[in-house]
Amino acid sequence: MIELPKLPFAEDALEPFISSETIQYHYHKHHAGYVNKLNELIKNTVYEKMSLSSIIRDSQGAVFNNAAQVFNHIFYWSSLSGKKSLPGKELLEKINNDFGSVEALKEEFIKAGAALFGSGWVWLVREPNGHLTVKTTQNADNPLKSHMIPLFVCDVWEHAYYIDYRNMRPKYLEEFWNYINWEHATKTFNKTDNNIFIAAEPCNDIHDPFCEVFDELQHQDRVTS
Ligand SMILES: [Fe+2]
Repeated sequence: MIELPKLPFAEDALEPFISSETIQYHYHKHHAGYVNKLNELIKNTVYEKMSLSSIIRDSQGAVFNNAAQVFNHIFYWSSLSGKKSLPGKELLEKINNDFGSVEALKEEFIKAGAALFGSGWVWLVREPNGHLTVKTTQNADNPLKSHMIPLFVCDVWEHAYYIDYRNMRPKYLEEFWNYINWEHATKTFNKTDNNIFIAAEPCNDIHDPFCEVFDELQHQDRVTS
């Protein structure tokens, strides 16, 4: 049984970037809908007793689509905060090294999200070789199957922004940048290192939705640069 985790902030905490009306639909209808559909699909199947990240890696079709959308939305909420934050020292150095500057990363991220055709997601990821890159994925797809570690993600399905921004996706992406939860991204980044992208320490924070993913990745073969 997969559960819908609580939002990590109050429903009006992201205003004016995201209205509580959008949260009402996005979290209570769309995100909850993926959780309910997934539970229906996995009932009495091999997936029923698996963790969410195992289902994502082992499934295809409707089960994968709903499981990945459950994770992607958990990660999207974790990527956002109404509280202003900045990248930590090591993460900032890595961004400067791999993109030139935070501003250059922002520009690339917004351009990639605006150019993505149809529905999907735009991510800042750490690749198995240690480098940070901007990735887009279509529909429910996510970087976990490619052994990439996401640091933050923006949902560019229309349901994420249409109430507040209508068809102005670039404006939504621009505003997203001001609400990134850099503390969460830094925490995730610090669980990796330059040579081995899987954290050496187990993740013990039960409130961190990414813990389960990290702990399972640690049981797989390590990938070195
Ligand atoms: Fe969404």
